[in-house]
Amino acid sequence: MLVLGIESSCDETAAAVVSNGKMLSNIIASQIKDHSKYGGVVPEIASRKHIEAINPVIREALADAHVTLQEIEGIAVTRGPGLIGSLLIGLSTAKAIAYALNIPLVGVNHLEGHIAASFLAEKPPAFPFVALVVSGGHTNVYLVKNYHDFHLLGQTRDDAAGEAFDKAAKLLNLGYPGGVVIDKMAKQGGNPQAIAFPRAMKDSPDFSFSGLKTSLLMMLKKRGRDFEESQLPDVVASYQEAIVDVLVEKTIKAARDNAIERIVVCGGVAANGRLREKFAAVADANKIELFIPPSILCTDNAAMIAAIGEIMLKNGRRDGLDLNAVSRWPLATL
Ligand code: KG4
Ligand code: ZN
Repeated sequence: MLVLGIESSCDETAAAVVSNGKMLSNIIASQIKDHSKYGGVVPEIASRKHIEAINPVIREALADAHVTLQEIEGIAVTRGPGLIGSLLIGLSTAKAIAYALNIPLVGVNHLEGHIAASFLAEKPPAFPFVALVVSGGHTNVYLVKNYHDFHLLGQTRDDAAGEAFDKAAKLLNLGYPGGVVIDKMAKQGGNPQAIAFPRAMKDSPDFSFSGLKTSLLMMLKKRGRDFEESQLPDVVASYQEAIVDVLVEKTIKAARDNAIERIVVCGGVAANGRLREKFAAVADANKIELFIPPSILCTDNAAMIAAIGEIMLKNGRRDGLDLNAVSRWPLATL
C-alpha cells in the first residue's frame, strides 16, 4: 500500500512515502535557523513556516519516491502530541488531500511514530520489547506488547532528556538545538569523568533531569570568570555522560525486570553518538537485542508516521474529516 506520511508537530515540516514497510522517500524541512536566535522554538513562527514548507515538501517526497499524488492510497498524519498550531497545518493538509483523492486518512500519535521508526529496518524488532522514547518533550520507557499496546514503565518527573541538553547548551551559549551541539563538542576529546554531575532517582524507574541542569548552573556561577573555554569539552562530555548513564541504566533495568530481551531506543536524543555507543555495549553485555533507527529516523520525520500509519490503514483504521489535533496525548491511553 502506498502511504503518504505528514509530520508537523514541532519545528520540522516533513513528508515521506512508505510502501509495505519500506521507506521510498523521506523529506525534512528544518526550521532551525528560524528559531535559533531565540534559543528555542517560537510556536507562532513554527506555524507560519509550516504553511510555507508543507506543499513543496510533499511534492518533493512524491518526486523522490517516483510516485504521483494520484497513486497514493492512504494518508497518515501526526495528530499529536505537539504544538497545536503546527499540528493543524499538517492535519489540514492531510485532510484536504484525503478528501480530494477520496482515500483513507489516519491520525497518528507522534510517540508511537518514533517507536515505529524501528519497523522500517531490514530486520524490525519482534514483540514484546521495551522502548525508550527520548526527545525534546519526552523521556518515557514503555513495555510494548503489540501494535498500540503500551504500558508505561517509567517517565521523567520534570525535564525531558532533550530539554536537559537544550537548556545546558543555552546556559553555555552553545546554540540550538543543544543536543546536536553538545554531541559534537563532547567528541572533541572531553573527559566524561572530569565532573561528577548528579545521577538522580537511582532506585526509581522514573527520571529527573532538572537537578542536573541546576548543578551545571551552580557550577557556572561558582566558577564565574574563571571558567575557561578550554574546560568546555570536559564540561559537556561530563554533562552528556550523566544523561546517557541514567537513560541506559534504567532502560536496561526495565527490560531485565520484565524479562524482555529486546530494546528499541528512539526519539531525537537517540541520535546521540555516546548514547548509541553505550547502549550497544551494555545491551551486548546483558544479551539484549538492541534496535536504534539511523539518526535521521530518530529526529522528527514523516517516514515513521507513514510506517505506523500503513499498519493502521491495513488493519482497517480510518479517521473522519472531523479529526482534530491534540496537544497532549499520552501513549498508554491509545
Ligand atoms: O524527536 P525530536 O526531533 O523532537 C521532539 O519530538 O521533541 O527531538 C528533539 C530533541 C531536542 O531536544 C534535541 O536537542 C535532541 O532531540 N537531539 C539530540 C541530538 N539530536 C537531537 N540530543 C542529543 N544528541 C543528539 N545528537
Ligand atoms: Zn519527536
